Amino acid sequence: MKAWPLAVAALLLAIGADAVADSHLLDFSPAERAAIVAHGPWPPAPVADPSHRAFADPAAAALGQRLFFDLSLSASGRVSCASCHLPGQAFQDGRAVAQGQGQGARNTPSLLDVAGQRWFGWGGSADSLWAASLRALRDPTEMGGDEAALQRRLGREPALGAVPAGDARLAAAAKALAAFQAGLVSARTAFDGFRDAMARGDDAAAARYPLAAQRGARLFIGRGRCSLCHAGPRFSHGEFADIGLPFFLPGGSVDPGRHAGLQDLLTSPFNRLGPHADDAGASAVATRHLRREHRHFGEFRVPGLRGLRQTAPYFHAGSAATLADVVQHYSALDVDRLHADGERILVPLRLSADEAADLVAFLESLSP
Ligand code: HEC
Ligand code: HEC
Repeated sequence: MKAWPLAVAALLLAIGADAVADSHLLDFSPAERAAIVAHGPWPPAPVADPSHRAFADPAAAALGQRLFFDLSLSASGRVSCASCHLPGQAFQDGRAVAQGQGQGARNTPSLLDVAGQRWFGWGGSADSLWAASLRALRDPTEMGGDEAALQRRLGREPALGAVPAGDARLAAAAKALAAFQAGLVSARTAFDGFRDAMARGDDAAAARYPLAAQRGARLFIGRGRCSLCHAGPRFSHGEFADIGLPFFLPGGSVDPGRHAGLQDLLTSPFNRLGPHADDAGASAVATRHLRREHRHFGEFRVPGLRGLRQTAPYFHAGSAATLADVVQHYSALDVDRLHADGERILVPLRLSADEAADLVAFLESLSP
């Protein structure tokens, strides 16, 4: 009498209880299916950067890879790019805010898929991957502080020694670093399998995607309105938004976000309009049209959402420890914190505990 239930339990274990419970596809409408399919395909086609001739050049990438791990590029001799962008941790550091030669104020972003971005840094202070790569070399809290030593160090690189010392040599080193990072692409995920199955009309394969994640996907593209900002295969439309996070820093100062980023970008000799862009400003149309306005205060770049499992904590100052905390922020949003001007996309979602868990399951499925 006792053997039966045991055998059934063992059988269920063998097939996997999840597979039994989850082999089901929600009744997604044609519009929902189209919205899901719009988050792929993955990986994306390789991008090019007209302002950077050697963007896809293997020799430049090899030099960039060496420089990326080189402690001697820092004023203290103790910090390299890889100190904060750790290759084994999706090229970020797991800290709330960065710690280099000094204490930073922002969360270190992952460098996976970085080449596909339009603006760089949480506040968009750079308009190319090479200009963004240069920032850490000069910032005293990260690696900078001794420009003369850095110039001498770069001058000893055979590939850079021929480049005139000064900004041109810095730009050349930054372009090598960018060529290396151009190859950092994240792996496919459970979501991509689901999305591709849906794109080819294979509902049986799509049904293998866990039910909780399916319900979370429906919230993400539907009532949550998440995909209005976290759009496309990278889950970011690439621009900036205010989501009502506090912008006060420990100690009472303020991170102005995009407002400061625009100031830095528009005054930088290393932007796409400047003398170091390889295409003489031909790809600088978006940069040329930028204007700094009050509404940019407190806006931060919409981050992509791939690989989140490896990149906690979240938000520009690492203020959310877990994805559940992020979802809670959107669920209990304080609308008074949002700008009065601009488009009102965000409303407090007031999610049930089950809905919040579904959204987290969906977000986790965007990681390999
Ligand atoms: C002290 C830690 C630290 C070091 C060292 C460091 N970074 Fe970063 N990196 C950061 C932080 C923090 C940001 C976000 C900066 C911001 O928002 O202004 C960032 C941003 C970036 C970005 C823009 C990413 C994005 O998503 O927009 C790139 C590219 C980058 N770093 C490359 C490098 C390279 C190349 C080096 C070495 C020359 C380097 N970093 C060294 C912490 C660091
Ligand atoms: C109005 C545009 C907008 C909408 C809508 C939106 N987000 Fe965001 N999201 C952002 C911005 C901007 C940030 C970065 C904010 C910061 O750190 O200052 C962000 C950050 C995040 C992060 C943290 C990523 C990281 O690497 O730190 C997650 C996860 C996230 N959003 C998920 C969601 C979900 C889920 C929804 C829907 C419930 C949603 N977002 C809706 C703009 C938006």
